[in-house]
Amino acid sequence: MSQIKVANDISIKQAAESLKSGGLVGMPTETVYGLAADATNGEAVARIFEAKGRPAFNPLICHFADSKDIETFAELNDRAKALAQAFWPGPMTLILKKKDSPISELATAGLKTIAVRVPAHKTAQAIIKAAGTPLAAPSANKSGSLSPTSPAHVQKSLGNKVDVILAAGHCDVGLESAVIDVSTDETIILRPGAITKEDIEAIGISVTEASNDDIKSPGQLLKHYAPNTPVRLNAIDIEEGEALLAFGSTKFMAIKSGGSASNLPDTQIRNLSEEQDLHEAAANLFKMLDELDRPEHKAIAVMNIPSTGLGIAINDRLQRAASAVE
Ligand code: TXA
Ligand code: MG
Repeated sequence: MSQIKVANDISIKQAAESLKSGGLVGMPTETVYGLAADATNGEAVARIFEAKGRPAFNPLICHFADSKDIETFAELNDRAKALAQAFWPGPMTLILKKKDSPISELATAGLKTIAVRVPAHKTAQAIIKAAGTPLAAPSANKSGSLSPTSPAHVQKSLGNKVDVILAAGHCDVGLESAVIDVSTDETIILRPGAITKEDIEAIGISVTEASNDDIKSPGQLLKHYAPNTPVRLNAIDIEEGEALLAFGSTKFMAIKSGGSASNLPDTQIRNLSEEQDLHEAAANLFKMLDELDRPEHKAIAVMNIPSTGLGIAINDRLQRAASAVE
């Protein structure tokens, strides 16, 4: 069955309802089609990773209808304001310092920065407004395949994983947005796109381009979130002074020096999902790691999480944290 619906008032309203209740929507933008979810709903964001079959949690771009809507979520410094004024709405993503906000920690992969974009496409604009929430959206393709520029391409790649694909023809730009990091003193193009170095310099901002080698492996450019506290995986019991990141029941988790994990003080224990639901666990992962990352904890002991479905990405993240790989 095809999920493709021509974008009009009715299908946009239906898609917005689906987003509000945690669903996934194929959304046209002027660059490429996105796989959109409510950025404030951690479990919906977890479904994006599951649908794409991404083996790791990369941070996602949050889409807004207007740059003034971004101010409660991120810090727009002077360079960001100048770039927004010149190139939004349009094919540009800015990396900004994140403010405390309801955006899911999974959408930003636990980073202190957030990727934001105001797309120009009128269907994207309409759906963001109708949903009334920022939309997290990576390109709507399976991990490792090409970004889709037509509804049929989305259907082929993600078919039954989306509630609806809003069809609005081919994307004008056909290339992902330029990603420009303005979160530090330097302005850096992390991913080249239709807004170029020359365009940015023309408005009086000096900018450096990440080298070609870096661009071939954009993951290298990312500083990943890693807790300061050591992480110990596949724990079956707890050492004195360790905090516990649980998954499922803690009834049979013993503290080596005596007692049960269920008696740990609230600051020392978090449960990714008592029901062992991997969506819930993914949504809680970065927030809970951060909450347990305290100097008084000798380590964070993590219970075993099965390496199936979203568990693969969760374990990838935990292994990086455990070996302190940035
Ligand atoms: O044109 C586009 O940008 C499309 C449409 C749907 O908006 N989206 C897109 O998303 O291409 P995605 O997830 O495929 O690429 C997002 C890029 C990734 O390279 C990611 O690493 C980077 O943005 N990114 C996201 N948050 C970041 C952050 N806080 N710091 C550095 N890079 C970030
Ligand atoms: Mg992509």
